[in-house]
Amino acid sequence: MNHFDYRGGVLCCEGVSLEAIAEAVGTPVYVYSSATLERHYEVFKQAFAPRDTLVAFAVKANANIAVINTLARKGAGADTVSQGEIERALVAGVPPERIIFSGVGKTEDELAFAVKTGVHQINVESIAELETLSQIAASLNAKPSIAIRVNPDVGAGGHEKITTGKGDTKFGVSIDQALQYYGRAHSDPHLHARGLAVHIGSQIKDLGPLEEAFKAMRGMAERLRAAGLSIDRLDLGGGLGVPYFNEPDPPTPAEYAAMVNRVFDGLDIGLAFEPGRMIAGNAGVLLSRVIRLQERPTRPIVVLDAGMNDLIRPAIYDAYHGIKPVREPKGGAETAYDVVGPICETGDLFTRNRALPPLEAGDLVAFMTAGAYGATMSSTYNARALVAEVLVRGDKYEIVRKRWELKDQLALEQIPSWE
Ligand code: LLP
Repeated sequence: MNHFDYRGGVLCCEGVSLEAIAEAVGTPVYVYSSATLERHYEVFKQAFAPRDTLVAFAVKANANIAVINTLARKGAGADTVSQGEIERALVAGVPPERIIFSGVGKTEDELAFAVKTGVHQINVESIAELETLSQIAASLNAKPSIAIRVNPDVGAGGHEKITTGKGDTKFGVSIDQALQYYGRAHSDPHLHARGLAVHIGSQIKDLGPLEEAFKAMRGMAERLRAAGLSIDRLDLGGGLGVPYFNEPDPPTPAEYAAMVNRVFDGLDIGLAFEPGRMIAGNAGVLLSRVIRLQERPTRPIVVLDAGMNDLIRPAIYDAYHGIKPVREPKGGAETAYDVVGPICETGDLFTRNRALPPLEAGDLVAFMTAGAYGATMSSTYNARALVAEVLVRGDKYEIVRKRWELKDQLALEQIPSWE
């Protein structure tokens, strides 16, 4: 479900024509729909009712403060993996008690910042991190709430590079270690051991591996309680996939919630989730203009003004994004194109041999389902401006990230003073 539709022959985001945005703001530009963001959050949250859950939006999926603020106003928390993401969440209006801090490489400064901020929970990924956090908490005379991140050795996800739950990835500790470290944390006067956390991968389209991991979590919570240790929270991570193209739809939030409720039936414990992609993915498009067409003996190439620096997912995960012309196609024959960007890399190829309505220089196209891991992974590679972002609400839109132009980038650099 999203709010990008053709109206009067032009692709619109809610009540705003993407053509109008391209004219006023230029391209490439990300365009997000407030209504889609809100709807996805609400549907997810409501799927678990009446169970009260913390739905912490994974900021890594879309870190724009306007996007986070749209969700925070609805009650969303934030799942963060750096001090920068915690600060973004705070600026966007997420209260500290709804912020989860995860990640394998938290520095001492970042841990101290999180403790001072009073975040909801710090997800600890190793015994070394636990020891460091204990010392930091002692020195700050604080008692942060922690969870141990478990690696249940259950892999899942749309691509090897986004599978986090296999035993040989860098994430979390084994089940046996987690039980041991939880006991260690529980007896630490400077730590408040609250729970366990898990996240097995991203773009997951099958509930089976999630269910397996969640059953393991339940079993662990019960073992800890049987051993006399209190545990009142389980953080079940993110990972639910979104439909990128015409394939069987991923499980719905309702199906996901039914599975979760089944697994945790009768267990009195607080649940948290960290969805990123399923909240923001379908809520955004990348709008780009055709620079020109290039003829080749095989198929014509469409050269766009968006490149892999603006949307890197196809280049690094072979990801598929739907491409729609902003002018509604009249329904005639389609042409097979390769669609590329202007970057000097062979990998700057969005798609090969894609059947699309005929395109010409100057046409606008939208990459669909680009609201998650699009702008957050963008760069200035090839000395390009950093892509702009726009948020739509109803028939209004605002630029929520200005294009970061070269002159502003150069202001941070200098030629050394030596001769
Ligand atoms: N929680 C943790 C601990 C995570 O590592 C992740 C994603 C999430 C939550 C959010 O997962 P989601 O609900 O969005 O699947 N750049 C890649 C995706 C990397 C995901 C990494 N972790 C992509 O563009 O597909």
